[in-house]
Amino acid sequence: MPTVACDHDEGALGLRLADRHALVSAEDEEGVAEVAEREEVGGLVAPGIDRPVLVAARVAARLGLPHPLDPETAERAVSKLAQRRAFEAAGVPQPRWELAAPGASNTVLQAPGSPVVVKPPDRQGQVGISLVRSPEDFAPAVEQAVSASRSGEALVEELVEGPEVTVNAFSSGGEFRALTVTDRVVAEPPAFGVALAHVWPSEEAVEDAVAAARAAAEALGIREGPTYTQIRLGPDGPRVIELAARLGGGHDAELCDAALGIDLNALALAAAFGRRATVPEARPAGGACVRFLVAPPGRLEGVEGFGEVLELPGVLDAVPYRPPGHEFGPLRAGNDRAGFVLARGDSRADALERAEAAAERIRFVVR
Ligand SMILES: Nc1ncnc2c1ncn2[C@@H]1O[C@H](COP(=O)(O)OP(=O)(O)OP(=O)(O)O)[C@@H](O)[C@H]1O
Ligand SMILES: [Mg+2]
Repeated sequence: MPTVACDHDEGALGLRLADRHALVSAEDEEGVAEVAEREEVGGLVAPGIDRPVLVAARVAARLGLPHPLDPETAERAVSKLAQRRAFEAAGVPQPRWELAAPGASNTVLQAPGSPVVVKPPDRQGQVGISLVRSPEDFAPAVEQAVSASRSGEALVEELVEGPEVTVNAFSSGGEFRALTVTDRVVAEPPAFGVALAHVWPSEEAVEDAVAAARAAAEALGIREGPTYTQIRLGPDGPRVIELAARLGGGHDAELCDAALGIDLNALALAAAFGRRATVPEARPAGGACVRFLVAPPGRLEGVEGFGEVLELPGVLDAVPYRPPGHEFGPLRAGNDRAGFVLARGDSRADALERAEAAAERIRFVVR
């Protein structure tokens, strides 16, 4: 099936993998609509990033194409604020939250000593997000979130402490089916919330997490297609951080294939064409993981070891994200990561060990 990829970045990996491409931002609704019309596409899919989920739904509606989400549902799915309101109305467990206006210097959530998370309601990839532990850091955090935000608002949330899982699921005809539940290994502040690994199977309370993810999808009215739900398992149970109505951006579909033998990309494509897809029977492996790679700061001169590690047992894929010449800064957000390794093993620990062994042989040569 021929594919047409849209990206504003000439260096984007997907442009080279697609049959044809257009140098159009996936956030540019007019541009995407023009390409879709000219190419007479049969469906649109926005994997991995949030805003294009809304663009794809709107363009599909304009062109009369089948699509898993109508524009109103997509609108809710790409706004953390709309999600907070929908979850509240439906009783979905979530962090306590409030909205902060530009210039706000305190918060009712921040009782002495209790940390809060401040974030723009309509961004992703940890852009503009901060963990605030002391009152004097609150105003600058709000300012940072407001300036990163499309809407000029900042969302303030209680910090839910505890392990974090991601529920990757697929809905068909309103039936929510959980596929992989993975542990999200996160970096320490200042890289607050940045995923360093997704590990399957999870060691946490998987059933509680799945119930919360299902409730979240229902509250947003998502009946078709993939969902990716971030959940922290706090002392009082699961709390939904947010849901994305798409494939996860951390190679989650490839991880699902490695873990369960289920091609989640194919399911997402079927949904994009308006076909009713049935989730096949799982053929579970012992363990699988995606481990992200971080380069030392500096200008990238080259990479070593990516080819060689593919020969190691259980290593299914290993790819650098950036071409030579890229300037790596310190790790602050997901976009600062340098590559990934996908590995499978007899158990979760075995998969992790294999990914680790591969990561140790990979070098980012920077100046
Ligand atoms: N209220 C919270 N309590 C605890 N941890 C949080 C909270 N909000 C965010 N986090 C942490 O930060 C990560 C990113 O949060 P969030 O999804 O809100 O931001 P994002 O910019 O959309 O990031 P991503 O693109 O990774 O989804 C979460 O996965 C979690 O680890
Ligand atoms: Mg998120």
